[in-house]
Amino acid sequence: MKSQDIRAKFLHFFKSKQHTIVPSAPMVLKNDPTLMFTNSGMAPFKEFFLGNATPKSNRISDSQKCLRVSGKHNDLEEVGYDTYHHTMFEMLGNWSFGDYFKKEAIAWAWELLTEVYQIDKDILYVTVFEGDEKDGTKMDQEAYDIWKQYIAEDRILMGNKKDNFWEMGEQGPCGPCSEIHVDIRSAKEKATIDGKLLINEDHPQVVEIWNLVFMQYNRKANGSLVELPAKHIDTGMGFERLCMVLQGVQSNYDTDVFTPLIREIGTITGAKYGKDEKIDVAIRVIADHVRAVAFAIADGQLPSNNGAGYVIRRILRRAIRYGFTFLNQKEPFIYKLTETLSLQMGKAFPEIKKQGTLVHNVIKEEEASFLRTLDQGLLLLDQVIETTKGTVVSGKRAFELYDTYGFPLDLTQLIAREKGYEVNEDEFNAGMKAQKERSRAASASETGDWVVLQEDDVEEFIGYDILTTNIKLTRYRKVTTKKDGDQYQLVFNMTPFYPEGGGQVGDVGYLEAPNGDMTYILDTKKENNVIIHFSKNLPKNVNDTFKAVVNKKFRELSANNHSATHLLHQALRTVLGEHVEQKGSLVNPKHLRFDFSHFSKVTQDELQDIEDFVNARIRENLPLEEKRNIPMQQAIDEGAIALFGEKYGDSVRSIRFGKSMELCGGTHVKQTGDIWYFKIKSESAIAAGIRRIEAITNVAVGDYFEDVERNFNTVKQLLKNPKDVSKSISALQDENTQLKKQVEQLLKDKAKNMKTELKNQLQEINGVQFLATKVDLDPNSIKNLLFELGGEINNLFVVFATAPTKEKAMLTCYISKELANERGYDAGKVVRELGKLIHGGGGGQNFFATAGGKNPGGIPKALDRAKEYIV
Ligand code: ALA
Repeated sequence: MKSQDIRAKFLHFFKSKQHTIVPSAPMVLKNDPTLMFTNSGMAPFKEFFLGNATPKSNRISDSQKCLRVSGKHNDLEEVGYDTYHHTMFEMLGNWSFGDYFKKEAIAWAWELLTEVYQIDKDILYVTVFEGDEKDGTKMDQEAYDIWKQYIAEDRILMGNKKDNFWEMGEQGPCGPCSEIHVDIRSAKEKATIDGKLLINEDHPQVVEIWNLVFMQYNRKANGSLVELPAKHIDTGMGFERLCMVLQGVQSNYDTDVFTPLIREIGTITGAKYGKDEKIDVAIRVIADHVRAVAFAIADGQLPSNNGAGYVIRRILRRAIRYGFTFLNQKEPFIYKLTETLSLQMGKAFPEIKKQGTLVHNVIKEEEASFLRTLDQGLLLLDQVIETTKGTVVSGKRAFELYDTYGFPLDLTQLIAREKGYEVNEDEFNAGMKAQKERSRAASASETGDWVVLQEDDVEEFIGYDILTTNIKLTRYRKVTTKKDGDQYQLVFNMTPFYPEGGGQVGDVGYLEAPNGDMTYILDTKKENNVIIHFSKNLPKNVNDTFKAVVNKKFRELSANNHSATHLLHQALRTVLGEHVEQKGSLVNPKHLRFDFSHFSKVTQDELQDIEDFVNARIRENLPLEEKRNIPMQQAIDEGAIALFGEKYGDSVRSIRFGKSMELCGGTHVKQTGDIWYFKIKSESAIAAGIRRIEAITNVAVGDYFEDVERNFNTVKQLLKNPKDVSKSISALQDENTQLKKQVEQLLKDKAKNMKTELKNQLQEINGVQFLATKVDLDPNSIKNLLFELGGEINNLFVVFATAPTKEKAMLTCYISKELANERGYDAGKVVRELGKLIHGGGGGQNFFATAGGKNPGGIPKALDRAKEYIV
């Protein structure tokens, strides 16, 4: 069965069990402060499990793109070495939100595996949670009793908390789980050791394929468990592993999910898979990582130097490194695989096809730039090795190479070994450990439990219409971080504060208690659909009714910039073309930043057109036409632009200003005239094919123009207030050119006069025409003069000295070629030795050389000594 059919059958099966099939959410999470990437199928539904939102259907199924490369679930370093771990993988899942529970989840899992996919029951094992004394949880008898209706009891194994109790994070919903394992070893191998003994023992052919989680508890910050009011099902099946079983192969990399990529790697690099383990590891690393990186970029996450972007950059660099070291690839090549990937996955995940060009270009550029770094690192490593005494390279230096150039230890070791050196690994590890501790200490935080003041499911956001209202606190918690110290996170029954999202920063403002006490709100963010307000302190009486006031100026200025980004987006698509897609934005009260796909520099003329376009829309004073809670499809049909990699709910909000229409949750002006004016401050490249425009609006433009005017007035005053400033600058420039010409002429004349005078001063000694004297000329004129003299007089030996300032002296020596070549005279030697007298040094050729120094006082002596070089 082809992988495409395997995926389709899964979804079809759960559709037949009344599940709503949804598309995969983006793999990169943009607005979740607790998680960078979707690390399991349930992550996009966290808010439903926590009871912060209600799903449109209480039965959902999908195939979710997941990435396990950071945080609690991190498989990165294993990938390549085994045949069943991946950075990016698909998780097939079915969910019940307070609907069905263990009975149905188990029955359907069994039906799908054994009847639909026809997996032989004799290769399956299941595990059941054995209970945990410390947590006070019992063995999951309920699950055991259901399982034994389907599978022989000797195939039901007990599992401990590590394997059979699934937790979303440090806190939150969790519960016992049952894993389904397969044993796909050959009959011969099975005869030697019982499959039961290999469950959860990292055997490549005895692997878990499906995890059925029975969410029935909530883990609190103090570690205790409380029963959830409604029980849920969360299942996750590893798609690639399922394909391995159904396609009768022994490794995920032998399924048709990977074989086209592996074949292509072979075609490009000439490497053969299956012959040499080192090469195989490299091929698996590359085949795996290109998927993770390509999908992340398609979801809008570009490689960068921090956060999620840095994780993506590291994954790609790991692949480049394996290609470089084991497949001998010194030029970019991974980007060439993106076409195969898009052909293979484009049907199930259209984003990989639509974003194909961008993905291709970004990976190519990243590869080229890292290969340059590797080259640089290689040079540095050579230097390190050259200066190494003995045969052990300092681990500290190896760590520096890693830390500053991303030059990995294994590569350093490999190269060192080739040259007969070892690397002090303990020292390297010590450096690594110290760095980890530094960053852990910097990001250490402690999050307390929510203190619930009143139950309230719907914390309504009312800030589109209202900036001041009376609110009640519903819950709060204390969070302590190294960076910010103690902070309180407050949740209200309703809020006018806009939480950070869609590029726009969160609102600030204050709460006023009945007695006039103030609590300042320093930021607002959304976490799992809950709007959290950050403050330094807690109000004295948390049960009071507070007047919540959003800082109006802050909000209005942000809204100006946000509406301007929409107009800018429209302008870019009008002036540069429809290929322009938004790739990121930042909107705060001070300015706006807009990143977009476009493959060349935006010219000055284009920038002018873009600015003019936006300002024309501002002058038209287009009214805001906003639609809230409309179905996604309706908004798209009406012409709204949706962004790639953005997670939209079922109902959306659309924002229209004239012909600009976008899906957007941000805050906006009532009419475009409020923006007042739009001014582009800069345009630059941030990655291959991605440009960035930074711009300002409203009062910031006022400040900017005032600044420009102030500068202009200063210039005007310096020019003595002429009527026409540019004319007067032109006149000055003309005058300057004229004066320069005159000076040049004067210098030439002076040199000419001097030449005659100097000729008269020549002395003949031993057949040499000799002169050593101080002259008052610039270096260029001295050189010209000497060469002219040399052209007219034979056997010339001249030393000129100048002292342009009190701390600067210069010696220039000219010697006719016949003296230099036939009688061994050497101008270089002369200036090197005489240079010492002016506290300097220099050199040159045997017929012409110069020396500079700091001591003009040494000139007379130097000139005096020059004679000594006549032989
Ligand atoms: N959420 C469960 C897992 O990731 C299904 O294993």
